[in-house]
Amino acid sequence: MRQTLLLLVAFTASHFVSAQNLPVAKPADAKMKTFIDALMKKMTMEEKIGQLNLPGSGDIVTGQASNSDIGKKIKEGKVGGLFNIKTVAKIKAVQKVAVEESRLKIPMIFGMDVIHGYETVFPIPLGLSCTWDMKAIERTAQIAAQEASADGINWTFSPMVDIARDPRWGRIAEGNGEDPYLGGEIARAMVKGYQGTTGSYKNNNIMACVKHYAMYGAAEAGRDYNTTDMSRVGMFNNYMLPYKAAVEAGVGSVMASFNEVDGIPATGSKFLMTDVLRKQWGFKGFVVTDYTGINEMEAHGMGDLQQVSGLAMRAGIDMDMVGEGFLTTLQKSLKEGKVTVAQIDAACRRILEAKYTLGLFDDPYKYCSEERAAKEVFTDANRAEARQIAAQSFVLLKNQGGILPLQKKGTIALVGPLADAKENMPGTWAVAARFDKAISLFEGLRTVVGDKATIVYTKGSNLDADAKFEERAGMFGKDFKRDMRPAQEIIDEAVNAVKNADVIVAALGESAEMSGESSSRSNIEIPQVQKDLLAALLKTGKPVVLVLFTGRPLAIKSESENVPAILNVWFGGSEAGYAIADVLFGDVNPSGKLTTTFPQNIGQVPIYYNHKNTGRPLGEGKWFEKFRSNYLDVSNDPVYPFGFGLSYSDFYYGSVKLSSNTLKAGGTITASVVVTNNSRVSGKEVVQLYLRDMVGSITRPVKELKGFQKIELKAGESKTVEFKISVNDLKFYNSDLKFVAEPGDFKLFIGGNSRDVKEATFKLL
Ligand code: BGC
Repeated sequence: MRQTLLLLVAFTASHFVSAQNLPVAKPADAKMKTFIDALMKKMTMEEKIGQLNLPGSGDIVTGQASNSDIGKKIKEGKVGGLFNIKTVAKIKAVQKVAVEESRLKIPMIFGMDVIHGYETVFPIPLGLSCTWDMKAIERTAQIAAQEASADGINWTFSPMVDIARDPRWGRIAEGNGEDPYLGGEIARAMVKGYQGTTGSYKNNNIMACVKHYAMYGAAEAGRDYNTTDMSRVGMFNNYMLPYKAAVEAGVGSVMASFNEVDGIPATGSKFLMTDVLRKQWGFKGFVVTDYTGINEMEAHGMGDLQQVSGLAMRAGIDMDMVGEGFLTTLQKSLKEGKVTVAQIDAACRRILEAKYTLGLFDDPYKYCSEERAAKEVFTDANRAEARQIAAQSFVLLKNQGGILPLQKKGTIALVGPLADAKENMPGTWAVAARFDKAISLFEGLRTVVGDKATIVYTKGSNLDADAKFEERAGMFGKDFKRDMRPAQEIIDEAVNAVKNADVIVAALGESAEMSGESSSRSNIEIPQVQKDLLAALLKTGKPVVLVLFTGRPLAIKSESENVPAILNVWFGGSEAGYAIADVLFGDVNPSGKLTTTFPQNIGQVPIYYNHKNTGRPLGEGKWFEKFRSNYLDVSNDPVYPFGFGLSYSDFYYGSVKLSSNTLKAGGTITASVVVTNNSRVSGKEVVQLYLRDMVGSITRPVKELKGFQKIELKAGESKTVEFKISVNDLKFYNSDLKFVAEPGDFKLFIGGNSRDVKEATFKLL
């Protein structure tokens, strides 16, 4: 099968597979082709266009599928698939309409936003990326696929791999941070996890859909859906690699992004959908628009619905999500010669191929087993894995005087609007979550300490002083039970409640819906009312641990200076409360490392570690020099750099050794470093490798991540960590967009974050 072939390529070749290397059709493809040829011969043009239509599921009441509005369309052959419909009973009922009551009995595909888990929810993707643990990440996708497929779903709108350098953008929460190399590795792991590794879909694998292609994360001013505009070298070197990695891993589908690229909305961009995706990268699956992506091209100013639908079809879009532009205008465009039969046929064929590959023609109910649904969803075993993985995603930002881990004794005061907010624990985009079963921090702490310590909880403040803001930030049923008393009264109550405590745990930050889609912020600090609470708690003189909930890097300069311990916990998923308790009490040693830079203030944004040097870089160790690239009012440094994260262990890095100071084409050199755990507790460390190309035909970043290894070291243990570097690791897109390595000098850095590194140099001959 085609799927098999693509996967094989991804496993056997290096990271960069050119379209020319893609395998030719094999017998399984021939069988599929024969089947689809025969089917398409029977299809009317209306039925072909029907396959390209992906409406939302609407209101399907159990037992009424056939008579629902959507049911009528399905019977007429006007629906290719549905999305965000949940439960085997409902999915089975609509599938039955398709395969029994439509003329050609073509099964439908069922999609859902299974983004970071299904009912068992894992950390938001930004948090998950901070594990730097590809096996764990793959496992989350595997479990998500297991649960979703047991419940009738066979297609997920994930992984989201948009690189983002702007924390104002709310959807930074859904991606893997700012680095394209790490983003690519995660894209591969997710695709493998969802689709499986056998090359054909078993009934517990689902088709992945990499999104949002392309450059969605580069929205100007961090405002969602906003324009992106950048150079082609910027695109290819900084944003494209994760999408490409997903394609190389055999992803079955791609979702077009809402934004424009080079002046053309992605949904209408032939450059993106055909020239790059299909011709350069050899993508063989299908492309779906984002939600009403075609219709929105009218507002972009690309013409009326017929014009923009034609534009999307000619660009290479196959499936139209929700807007029905294809369904309602393509026939007319065909008559007027604006689109061709060949274009519609190609799109229809790709949808049918996806269904064939998923095995839906053999068994339309392949994913509809009530027995599996009852046994395999939200199981204790899955939840236990979610708890472990969540604990790995937390990033210990500060631990002055070793306040953490806490002891399970005495009185612990738990304060803050996020402390007892179970619905907020799964985070944004958790459409299948069991919010009622999510574990709050309060519940997690109580369970983990049992009767060994007393936990005293007070809310201490609302999420935000502005009730309207809190309402917007509490969307989708995530309510904060607003306290209507004056803010000072609520703070005073908390200060009074912590009087007898030995330590204060302040659960502050953002709510789940303060990040995610259409949740951009122009102020990325902790809301002021919570800062006031924190100041009052610090004033008590008691030790304070800030447990920071967030879906984006926050500007926490003052907190980093004034609070002795900070554990950044993102949104950890359904088991978040337990996982946070595990780390706070040292049952799990934190090992997460940031995948985005934490700025000092909003004015430094965009700030990212892999920036260019400029012609006037600031002198080493300086924070201001006139006529240099800097600010009058703030240094260029972030508060916490990319790759940063502490542990309860202390890791020491020896000097970097290279097997040779020269690298020849076709050869490799090995860089090694001894890492020692200089502490009494065993822990995990992410050892990071960065390179700098000192002279290039285009300017090159001051550092680029090119490798990492997550190792475990027992107390006092040392390990030698080795990285092999080949010419491939030195390649970049030059100004002709050729992927090349250029001879010359390179610097190599190894360390536990992007700032604190040991370096060596070598030459590419
Ligand atoms: C989002 C996508 C999502 C789609 C379907 C859109 O609003 O941008 O990420 O997959 O909705 O729910």
